[in-house]
Amino acid sequence: MKNIAVIGTGYVGLVTGTCFADLGNRVVCVDINEERINNLNKGILPIYEPGLEEMVRRNMASGRLNFSLSYDEAINNADSPAEMVFIAVGTPEGVDGEADLRYVRAAAETIAETMKHQVIIINKSTVPVGTGDWVADIVRGKQPEPIAFDVVSNPEFLREGAAISDCMNPDRIVLGSLNRDAANKVAQLYMPLRAPIIVTDLRTAEMIKYASNAFLATKISFINEISNICEALGADVKEVAAGMGYDKRIGRAFLDAGLGYGGSCFPKDVKALAHMANIQGKHPQLLEAVMTINTDQRRSLVNKVRGLIGNNGAHLSKLEGKTVGMLGLAFKANTDDMRESQPVDIIRMLQADGAQIKAYDPVAMDNAGKQLQNVKLCEDVYDVAVGCDALILGTEWNEFKNLDWHRIKGLMRKPVLVDGRNLYEPAVMRDLGFTYRGVGRGYA
Ligand SMILES: NC(=O)c1ccc[n+]([C@@H]2O[C@H](COP(=O)([O-])OP(=O)(O)OC[C@H]3O[C@@H](n4cnc5c(N)ncnc54)[C@H](O)[C@@H]3O)[C@@H](O)[C@H]2O)c1
Repeated sequence: MKNIAVIGTGYVGLVTGTCFADLGNRVVCVDINEERINNLNKGILPIYEPGLEEMVRRNMASGRLNFSLSYDEAINNADSPAEMVFIAVGTPEGVDGEADLRYVRAAAETIAETMKHQVIIINKSTVPVGTGDWVADIVRGKQPEPIAFDVVSNPEFLREGAAISDCMNPDRIVLGSLNRDAANKVAQLYMPLRAPIIVTDLRTAEMIKYASNAFLATKISFINEISNICEALGADVKEVAAGMGYDKRIGRAFLDAGLGYGGSCFPKDVKALAHMANIQGKHPQLLEAVMTINTDQRRSLVNKVRGLIGNNGAHLSKLEGKTVGMLGLAFKANTDDMRESQPVDIIRMLQADGAQIKAYDPVAMDNAGKQLQNVKLCEDVYDVAVGCDALILGTEWNEFKNLDWHRIKGLMRKPVLVDGRNLYEPAVMRDLGFTYRGVGRGYA
């Protein structure tokens, strides 16, 4: 059993802190957001993540998981002083794509001012290469008196929507440090997971995270580019991806053509890596193409809607007088995270064209409501369909997989379906009487 402090109770901090507690460690999660901590202490979670609520409550009941606003309580508890302090605060996009490190800086400063004994400070946040050294400088500079510490980089690879399973069954654990002993101590924490552990220097560990996300984003943009060529040449990208994916050198994962990547990680991480390259005088041509293709994918869907239901008259804007329904608002299924959501972006483009928008999402509606204006948020899919000139499938939620399309068709003004996730079969939808467009499904 280890005593652990986790700084930040977002998707990463809350999930990893809870998983560490579930593995038998004593964990105190700290946040500066008072409402978040008060709610967590009542068992109310700030995020939607399948299975997390039950796991949090169970570990709170066992006394292994606690939430606090106080770094002192988390780090210096007399009975169980923390030997490891994980930083899991946000690193959002800053100016020119550079990662904004203000939360990491604040966390490092407060750790330095608070720690009364030797600790290992572990960076779980995704941070630019060199941040580990920078954190060490900050801590040294802010300590009221010198106390030994180590900095370890331990990037997190969990996916929202599958975070617990990813946390408990990671493909690998990456630990970067200048002090092998410190990395080995953190490795002990992960031993029960029986995952490969890769120990590197700090900068290499930080780079592994960016390179991994950039590669996955590249796979997505690659298949989206192929989907556009498929559309032009009459091939079906779903079958192309299946045919490619059986090749072990390629693999099937991340070869789903659709609306491009969104969410809180890939967009900002690809930008941050490109920014790091640019300031070193390198020209990250591939990363730039990945980002351009990704943005174009959203535009391409809007163009399909325009082509199918748009006004031709010069006196009207393209979608004036048209109602478009969006099924799904989250950037992917099983999350309520609305950061860089493709459906939200698409809604804004459609609104700029004059369309009226109706929408429904199984869990992201509250968060979406804060970002969207003039959108009618509906009870369910059927409520959305009423009076629509077109429906867009924006998020591949399970509950959208088996809908009553006869009923939906009867409720719509025009049976037009633009499937941004290739969730449906073109021939089936055509037989049901829909005008259907998927992504890269040339024969649709
Ligand atoms: N979300 C993901 O799927 C994911 C996956 C892998 C890595 N990451 C990375 O992990 C990091 C955290 O991401 P997230 O999605 O969990 O962020 P988040 O925005 O969901 O949560 C961050 C939390 O940190 C808190 N915080 C900010 N400053 C603080 C401070 N000084 N002290 C204490 N708490 C503070 C915030 O109040 C918030 O609760 C980011 O660097 C992200 O890139 C995220």
